[in-house]
Amino acid sequence: MFFCSFLFGLFFWFIGTRAVLQNITVDDTKPNSVTGAYISYAPADAWDTNLCTNCFVNPEARRFVDETWHQSTFDARETINGHVNTPLTASVAFNGSAVHVFCTLSRSNAFPLVGDSDMTFYLDGAVVGTFVQQAVGSTGFDYTVPVYSNSNIPPGQHTLTVQNGHIDGARSLMILDYITYS
Ligand SMILES: *[C@@H]1O[C@H](CO)[C@@H](O)[C@H](O)[C@H]1NC(C)=O
Ligand SMILES: *[C@@H]1O[C@H](CO)[C@@H](O)[C@H](O)[C@H]1NC(C)=O
Repeated sequence: MFFCSFLFGLFFWFIGTRAVLQNITVDDTKPNSVTGAYISYAPADAWDTNLCTNCFVNPEARRFVDETWHQSTFDARETINGHVNTPLTASVAFNGSAVHVFCTLSRSNAFPLVGDSDMTFYLDGAVVGTFVQQAVGSTGFDYTVPVYSNSNIPPGQHTLTVQNGHIDGARSLMILDYITYS
């Protein structure tokens, strides 16, 4: 009898802990604390980080998770980091049913720090959203902006890819801070 109620209790404890969903943070640079996986960037040399010393993008490091970020600029005509008219991607694998992407946005519309955004989001290879916005045309940055949020994904293993720019599209700046999932 005691053993039965013990099993019963264990069962409900197990259900209870499983029901508590928590967002797991995947930093732009550090490995995911749960799976050890990193965000992968392509083409890798098209992306700069907070360590870049000759970049025109210089937000405040202390406003970022772990004080790190990855940034890329898409341009259909100008060659940047050896690439022209090449969309840049950041991909993360996760096991869950929700995913949220947080970026920093530049408010400037003065060349070269044009803060216009043109992002496309792919879940398992299919387009599931976009974030297209012109910079407001002032100074400074907006931090921790949720550029993509989806809480309606079938539970399981998925890959989210954020694409900066699209072929023949407008110039686009992307500054990735972190991605969460649950
Ligand atoms: C995860 O984070 C998103 C975005 O901040 C939030 O809307 C959501 O409620 C969080 N989910 C959980 C389970 O805490
Ligand atoms: C995803 O997580 C669930 C719940 O923890 C687990 O049952 C499942 O096996 C995981 N799937 C994969 C592909 O790792």
